[in-house]
Amino acid sequence: MAQIIDGKAVSKQVREKVAAETAALKEKGITPGLAVIIVGDDPASQVYVRNKEKACDEVGFYSEKFALPASTTQQELNELVMKLNKRDKISGILCQLPLPSHLDDKEVINLIDPKKDVDAFHPVNVGEIMIGDYNFLPCTPAGIMELIHSTGVDICSKKAVVIGRSNIVGKPMAMLLLHENATVEITHSKTKDLKSITSQADILVAAIGKAKFVTADMVKDGAVVIDVGMNRDENGKLCGDVDFENVKEKCSYITPVPGGVGPMTISMLMKNTLTAAKIQNGLMK
Ligand code: GUN
Repeated sequence: MAQIIDGKAVSKQVREKVAAETAALKEKGITPGLAVIIVGDDPASQVYVRNKEKACDEVGFYSEKFALPASTTQQELNELVMKLNKRDKISGILCQLPLPSHLDDKEVINLIDPKKDVDAFHPVNVGEIMIGDYNFLPCTPAGIMELIHSTGVDICSKKAVVIGRSNIVGKPMAMLLLHENATVEITHSKTKDLKSITSQADILVAAIGKAKFVTADMVKDGAVVIDVGMNRDENGKLCGDVDFENVKEKCSYITPVPGGVGPMTISMLMKNTLTAAKIQNGLMK
C-alpha cells in the first residue's frame, strides 16, 4: 500500500519558512503585499480568494482584496491592474480566474507587471520557465515539485507522464519535471491508448478534471501518483482525478484529495509574493 503524501504538512513547512523570512524582511522595513482581484460571485473562486487572504495574514503579509461586480468592464479591470502595478505596497497581483465570459483573461494577464506576476502566467514569465531561468513558477506545478521532493524519490531519468495540457498545470508541470531530468510525456484528450502510456509512468500527474478518471489498471506498480483534480463524485463528495481507494494499493506514494496538492498551491503563492517583494526591493535579481 502506498504512503500518503501529506500536502498539509509540506505546505505548513513552506509557510513557516515564508513567515520566518517575512519577519526578517519586516525588520528591514519591507512588508510583502498581495493584491487579489476577484470579479463576479463564483462561489469556488470566493473560497479560493478567502483562503489566499487568510494565508497572507498567517505569514505576515499585507493583503488587499478587490471584489469587483460581475458587470465590471474590461477597461475598469485593466485600469485597476495598471494602478496596482505602480503601487509600492503591492508586491504581487493575482487576478482570480475564471473571469466572467465578457472579460478577456489574456488581456489582464498581459497587463500585469511581470515582476508582480505571482501566478507566473505572463508570457515573459512563461518564457523564462521554458528557458529554465526564472523567478516565479506557477503555483500548482511548483507545489507538486515540492511534494515529489518530500518523498525523497529521485526524479532524474524517471519516466514522467502528465495527463492534461493546460497552461496553468499540464504544460509547466512537464517543463519542471524535464528541468529535473525526467523523461516526460504529455498526454491529453486526443491521446490514443492512454493506458499504455500511463502504465509506464514512474511519476504520474493527473490534471484532467474528471472524477476518478485514473484507475488502478492505468498505473505502474510502485509509481508516484499526483492528483491535481478537484471534483465531486456521484454522492457529491470531493474527489480527485484518481480512483484513490484502488490506486493506493498499487503505487508507492499518492496525494489525497483533499489534503494533497490543494494546500500547496496557496503556499507557493506566498513564496512567489515573498520573492516579488525581494526583487522589488533590490534584494534579489
Ligand atoms: N483559478 C484557479 N486556479 C488559479 C490560480 O492558480 N491562479 C488564478 N489567478 N486563478 C486561478
